[in-house]
Amino acid sequence: MKNVIRFIAFVLILFLVLFVFIKYTIYGIIFIAVALVAVGVYDLIQTKHTILRNFPIIGHMRYILEGISPEIRQYFVESDTDGKPLNRNQRSYIYSRAKLQHTKHPFGTEHDLQREQIEWARHSMYPAKVLNTPPRVRVGGKDCLQPYESSIFNISAMSYGSLSKNAILALNKGAAAGGFYHNTGEGSVSPYHLQGGDLVYQIGTGYFGCRAEDGRFDPEKYKVTSAIPEVKMIELKLSQGAKPGHGGILPAVKNNEEIAAIRGVIPHTEIDSPNAHREFNSALGLLEFIKTLRDLSGGKPVGFKLCIGSKDEFIDICEEMVSTNITPDFITIDGAEGGTGAAPIIFSDHVGMPYENALIFVVDTLRKYKLEDEIKIVVAGKLIDGFSIFKALCLGADIVNTGRGMMLALGCIQALECDKNTCPTGVATDNPTLVRGLVVEDKYKRVANYHRETVKDFLELFAAAGCTDLNQLNRSYIFKQMNNQVVGFQERYPDVCAI
Ligand SMILES: Cc1cc2nc3c(=O)[nH]c(=O)nc-3n(C[C@H](O)[C@H](O)[C@H](O)COP(=O)(O)O)c2cc1C
Repeated sequence: MKNVIRFIAFVLILFLVLFVFIKYTIYGIIFIAVALVAVGVYDLIQTKHTILRNFPIIGHMRYILEGISPEIRQYFVESDTDGKPLNRNQRSYIYSRAKLQHTKHPFGTEHDLQREQIEWARHSMYPAKVLNTPPRVRVGGKDCLQPYESSIFNISAMSYGSLSKNAILALNKGAAAGGFYHNTGEGSVSPYHLQGGDLVYQIGTGYFGCRAEDGRFDPEKYKVTSAIPEVKMIELKLSQGAKPGHGGILPAVKNNEEIAAIRGVIPHTEIDSPNAHREFNSALGLLEFIKTLRDLSGGKPVGFKLCIGSKDEFIDICEEMVSTNITPDFITIDGAEGGTGAAPIIFSDHVGMPYENALIFVVDTLRKYKLEDEIKIVVAGKLIDGFSIFKALCLGADIVNTGRGMMLALGCIQALECDKNTCPTGVATDNPTLVRGLVVEDKYKRVANYHRETVKDFLELFAAAGCTDLNQLNRSYIFKQMNNQVVGFQERYPDVCAI
């Protein structure tokens, strides 16, 4: 129906333009000629663009086409398995679940099942009954006084500032409707986060929400923020997959007065969170800081997030946990394939360990040090569908987060403009004209739908594997085609592999 109305409107406008042009042809031609001459003269005398000086008027085509090339590729050129970071099939998976449309696929797989790196799950001849209620995971170790029962699938850290206020409102309302958590990202808790959804309050190197005037950690402010009832857990961010070791960037164009006030910084300036924490610089320092955060919060679960770089540094932390008996309640592993609002490209492309290797390493290391019962493992890195959740849980994760999956559920079209404040869907911009387009009352339902339907997909796969309890999952359920051979994850990564 909507498309029919759009088509009729288009035809009417076309007739109107043709009518005006025919009626006033001569004036139209003079106007266009004068405008073209003016543009041509300007192009010749300007000194910024060589192409325009050498090819006046016509040279503009290059800039116009360059500007819309992502859209042209997406609408006309891209195949179902093309498109980066998320291909069309992955995007359609999310859209269809968010909108509750066409969640089934006709006529069989479109994948080449013999291709390198293809993965599959082991099903059982005796599938189990599909669970009606999705299982929940208890987060909270021996020192935690307020354990949290988490969904297996949640909203990964994305700040108010990198996302719009309507996006945050819709995510939080979606989390409240679907019973899963919403990680605030390092930009602190804003009023838009308080719509009833459970929160994980993330603290980055900028200490937003608990920042003293000199930029260091302020325990009193932290007590206030962590005491917010919606804050169920606290996550200390060491690094993220898209820019490990770099720190956060909030571009000046997105740092408006309100965001600056929430974060305690100067508006309209680029905010570069330092690449390292000022409160600690060793494994012991990290664990003592975690203990401080847990004590000051009244015993809420506290964890840390990182993208794995040096294995030795992680092993060092585990050894320190054993000798001090201080453990985090959870560790969040972000794969190098993770997303971001803005990052230097060499960091996104060439720094950090991908999620699969990192997850296996962390799980095995915690098992080796007998820490696996104390510490829950959360993981993210393009894990956007039911199979990704199944695989991550089989490899040893307890909980999966998604950032870009939730952005797509909000209507993101992967325009790749998160850092320019021009996001056409109002998800990653603070431009009010664009933000207006994102209708919270509609989009929060899509966030909840995407979550529910994806978890449902997981549960169907879980049942097909013959499972009824999350503890049954292990690496023997996952296979991969590698170097022309079928490789079982159980054989490739026996539970405690050589670290
Ligand atoms: C727009 C955007 C903003 C993000 N902001 C943060 C942040 O503030 N803190 C953080 O730890 N990670 C941040 N991330 C990373 C995500 O939390 C997540 O770890 C990563 O994108 C992997 O999940 P995905 O592949 O499902 O997107 C951001 C990602 C995006 C796309």
